Amino acid sequence: MALILGIETSCDETAAAVVADGRRILSNIVASQIDLHRQYGGVFPEMAARQHIFTLLPVVQEALEEAGAGWNDLDAIAVTSGPGLAGALLVGVNAAKGMAWSRGLPLVGVNHLEGHVYSNWIEVEGNRADKTFPVLVLIVSGGHTELIVMRGHGRYERLGATIDDAAGEAFDKVSRLLGLGYPGGPAVQRAAAGGSTSAFALPRAWLPGTSDFSFSGLKTAVLRTVQQVERSQDETDRRLTSSAGLAEDTVSGIAASFQQAVVDVLVAKTVQAALAVGATEICVCGGVAANVALREAMRQRSPLPVSVPPLFLCTDNAAMIAAAGYYRWQSGGVSQLDLDVVANLALV
Ligand code: KG4
Ligand code: ZN
Repeated sequence: MALILGIETSCDETAAAVVADGRRILSNIVASQIDLHRQYGGVFPEMAARQHIFTLLPVVQEALEEAGAGWNDLDAIAVTSGPGLAGALLVGVNAAKGMAWSRGLPLVGVNHLEGHVYSNWIEVEGNRADKTFPVLVLIVSGGHTELIVMRGHGRYERLGATIDDAAGEAFDKVSRLLGLGYPGGPAVQRAAAGGSTSAFALPRAWLPGTSDFSFSGLKTAVLRTVQQVERSQDETDRRLTSSAGLAEDTVSGIAASFQQAVVDVLVAKTVQAALAVGATEICVCGGVAANVALREAMRQRSPLPVSVPPLFLCTDNAAMIAAAGYYRWQSGGVSQLDLDVVANLALV
């Protein structure tokens, strides 16, 4: 059994985890900074880095204790080296280097997106590590929307990606437009639960003949809809309002219509790409994979088996970094102590 300590500090979660053989979680600690950043309406990069400095060591200590593991039980330390906020990444990478050097352990730099991919290899809630390649992976996070075909461990081929906003970014921007705050995805999902998906006619960018996505037109359509409603609302409506100055049922109608537009495109294009490459299964990952409408639609509309991690493994965590690190370490992908952070590190 190989034990990997995973460390993740790429954005606004300070996380550490111990994972056995890339598939069994022994501990998974996440200290969220959401409350800290809420007052700014989004992630404040320097605050994020400083907070990681305060939180990381206690989080690592807790991860080891909960796993019942000492430093000598570990086989390697995996750490996110990009993509993400450079200052935030540096905290995790430098801490991991110190730990690896002082304990004589291999250091494994992990691409955050590869971490999201391997969240589907962790054996929880029916997800299995013994997948048959090729596997089609949809990564949908705050910064990325990518369709990847995986033909083996660590072998990625990009079929398409967003040409403008990422899906999570669209959720976050629409949340702001609707006065729902940060973090946007869960807030939009909650508002959408009370609305009709056909309340407002919103566009879907199909970009035919490609596996690319575009969400900026949809975001602009939401902005226009909000402006139109604001103009047509009378004073009485305005008084029953949300913080955006819209009636609550308008907010839920827009949220539901927007969410449906995103889900329709993500599901249709993923299924189409999976069939085209002869994938044996579809894996969905990244923060937006926590979206219930997306999870349900993918499962309903895909003729292939669909794997989606449980919610706690969709948003940023270190178990996924330890899992990805395990496969990288097994294939000899050990980093040196000059490992640098790369804010815009690509998966392929
Ligand atoms: O993967 P993640 O935690 O961080 C990045 O690597 O970017 O993804 C964060 C993104 C945010 O844009 C957030 O609004 C979105 O995931 N998100 C959701 C939901 N939960 C988180 N989007 C839609 N529905 C959700 N339930
Ligand atoms: Zn992420």
